[in-house]
Amino acid sequence: MAIVGGGSIGVAWAIVFARSGFAVSVFEPDPARRARLADEVGQRLDALRENGLLAEGVSDISRRVAVATDLDHAVSGAVHVQECVPEVIDLKREIFSDVLRVADAATTVASSSSAIAISEVAAGLQGNNRCMVAHPGNPPYLVPVVEIVPAPFTAPEAVDSVMSLMSESGMVPVRVNREIEGFVFNRLQGALLREAYCLVRDGVATPTAIDLVVTAGLGRRWSVIGPFATAELNTRGGIRAHAERLGPAYARMGADRGQDDPWTPDLVEQVAEDLESRYPASRWEEHVMQRDLELMRFEVDRRRSTDRTTDGHP
Ligand SMILES: NC(=O)c1ccc[n+]([C@@H]2O[C@H](COP(=O)([O-])OP(=O)(O)OC[C@H]3O[C@@H](n4cnc5c(N)ncnc54)[C@H](O)[C@@H]3O)[C@@H](O)[C@H]2O)c1
Repeated sequence: MAIVGGGSIGVAWAIVFARSGFAVSVFEPDPARRARLADEVGQRLDALRENGLLAEGVSDISRRVAVATDLDHAVSGAVHVQECVPEVIDLKREIFSDVLRVADAATTVASSSSAIAISEVAAGLQGNNRCMVAHPGNPPYLVPVVEIVPAPFTAPEAVDSVMSLMSESGMVPVRVNREIEGFVFNRLQGALLREAYCLVRDGVATPTAIDLVVTAGLGRRWSVIGPFATAELNTRGGIRAHAERLGPAYARMGADRGQDDPWTPDLVEQVAEDLESRYPASRWEEHVMQRDLELMRFEVDRRRSTDRTTDGHP
């Protein structure tokens, strides 16, 4: 594996891949950053180890991470290159051009970009059919989802290959069907953050109160089931009944913010059919219980960790 750019995300990807047994080469042009890289990898691995999250010793894993002083050296022979340079389109374009010139013909190349589409970064470059975005949450060694976002020119086999590689590395790859600003992660996050700002502006609640509603409420539930599954399992009759009963109220809240995106019957049906394959209606009670059990496990872990950090005195 080759990582280009050894900043926050580059170091985190190095840990993800090395932890899964890959040899990793990190190219970082800044000598000061290069000098700190090995220590940073070691410190984060130490913390993972202390929390029981490593299957091997820290030195076994950190030994797999090499720091490279030139790009060619890092990239040649790599099965996959993960670009982690600052979010500047011209810089990313230059890096992709250089990487594609040096990398093997079968090497896949992904950008960690949070917002820039690969069709902007790799347009017109020779070999761009192996390029895509692989956008992680931060830090990827603890937040496993990674959005795989191809351009129209990306080959489906390259997408399949990166999806497999990410699964093999302990990540949860999610394919995004087409490019859109913010992809899925940041669009969802953005919707919540926009509303949160409005609520503060309108004096409805303080930032502290809003953070609490998420950490002690929505976030807890979302750690075990997503928003669609929540609607399905919170309402007898599932998401169809939920949309019928609560759809008008949510439409009014959207209209309050100048948004007009009604949950049409066709759209609700499309979501309901997807949910039906995961949560068959005949086993609704069982899934509700399963959700509760997972929340109980979460609560037990949370209490244990509170006990640990407060030395048994919560
Ligand atoms: N930080 C986050 O929360 C986060 C989350 C997901 C995705 N991302 C994305 O990951 C990418 C990297 O973000 P970051 O937070 O790690 O930034 P960062 O500033 O911490 O790291 C960027 C690194 O790239 C290096 N660099 C600069 N020019 C370079 C070049 N020409 N060749 C190789 N390396 C070069 C810098 O020296 C630096 O070490 C960005 O596209 C960002 O949007 C960041």
